[in-house]
Amino acid sequence: MKSRKIGKTELLSGLFGLGCNKMLDPNNADMVAVAHEAIDIGMNQFDGADVYGEGKCEIFLGTILKSRRDEATIVSKFGMIRTPQGAVVNVKPDYVKQACDASLGRLQMDHIDLYYQHRMDLNVPIEDTVGAMAGLVKAGKVKEIGLCNTTSDLIRRAHKVHPIAAVQMEYSLMERGVEKDVLPTCKELGITFVAYGPLTYAFLAGEVKKHDDLPQNDAFRRRQSRFTDENLDHNVKMLAALNQVATEVGATPAQIALAWCLHRPFDVLPIPGSSKPKHLEENAEAADVHLTESQVKLLDSSFSVGAAKGDGAMMAPVSPR
Ligand SMILES: NC(=O)c1ccc[n+]([C@@H]2O[C@H](COP(=O)([O-])OP(=O)(O)OC[C@H]3O[C@@H](n4cnc5c(N)ncnc54)[C@H](OP(=O)(O)O)[C@@H]3O)[C@@H](O)[C@H]2O)c1
Repeated sequence: MKSRKIGKTELLSGLFGLGCNKMLDPNNADMVAVAHEAIDIGMNQFDGADVYGEGKCEIFLGTILKSRRDEATIVSKFGMIRTPQGAVVNVKPDYVKQACDASLGRLQMDHIDLYYQHRMDLNVPIEDTVGAMAGLVKAGKVKEIGLCNTTSDLIRRAHKVHPIAAVQMEYSLMERGVEKDVLPTCKELGITFVAYGPLTYAFLAGEVKKHDDLPQNDAFRRRQSRFTDENLDHNVKMLAALNQVATEVGATPAQIALAWCLHRPFDVLPIPGSSKPKHLEENAEAADVHLTESQVKLLDSSFSVGAAKGDGAMMAPVSPR
């Protein structure tokens, strides 16, 4: 897979990164194989977070990739903490260093390549949080910084305090809200837009046709109203265009959905999550899929903003209390 730089930095990534929120078990042979194969094929950006598996993802990445540290671009995030009462956001400046040190300990590494603020809290000035993140860069604990689940205004304010290398938000054929403000802002400022959920959590691969296709313990997908049976009845019909292009190209629908991300007039770096080698290989091949202008047009019009029914997983900034 071709390599590219993230934002205006020297940090390298494959055209796709690897979403790691399910990579939690160093004894799971499939997950270990995926991690090594991802490096072997150049899909070398590992997107972790402290909250994934409450530290387990970072422990997995540390255990498996310690011996291949120089070949991997290691990503982590802070600011979201799971409690028995639900997720709590903490992005206060004095917490930033503490969270980073804890992540480095679990990763068994001396630095993180790209460190994101995972959630925005409008009660805590972004300048203060990003100022604390800039301190981590100065201390050599973090190479570059990024923001997740944010807004155009917050990106601009943060970028004035310290260059933002990447912005990570949900983006796919099914979720195109960021095209209005966030993507143009990233383009203007030279920030790479990292697309999470590029397969809309397996929906675009044709694996979610009814609500009960989602495992009972999959609260993240089960709470998205786009996946109620009523809305799925409508949304599944949208897949016809994707399937048509897939047949024309001789690729799978998942590959077309990922290739579409690379055909945007923006700098988009998708990070599909794959915990199975066959998914990793299929997704990696999408980096070589070429779509014609008319195929892109068909996909754009079939999945236009507002065409899908129900909401996704977008995590809006916490509002003033
Ligand atoms: N910043 C944030 O707030 C935020 C929020 C959510 C996610 N993320 C990041 O973004 C990454 C990507 O999001 P995601 O993993 O939730 O969603 P996704 O990439 O849209 O979908 C991943 C799901 O699709 C399945 N899949 C992958 N490739 C497939 C293929 N070729 N055919 C059929 N099914 C396939 C995976 O199954 P298998 O696991 O079985 O391979 C997994 O269930 C996450 O891993 C995480 O790193 C960030």
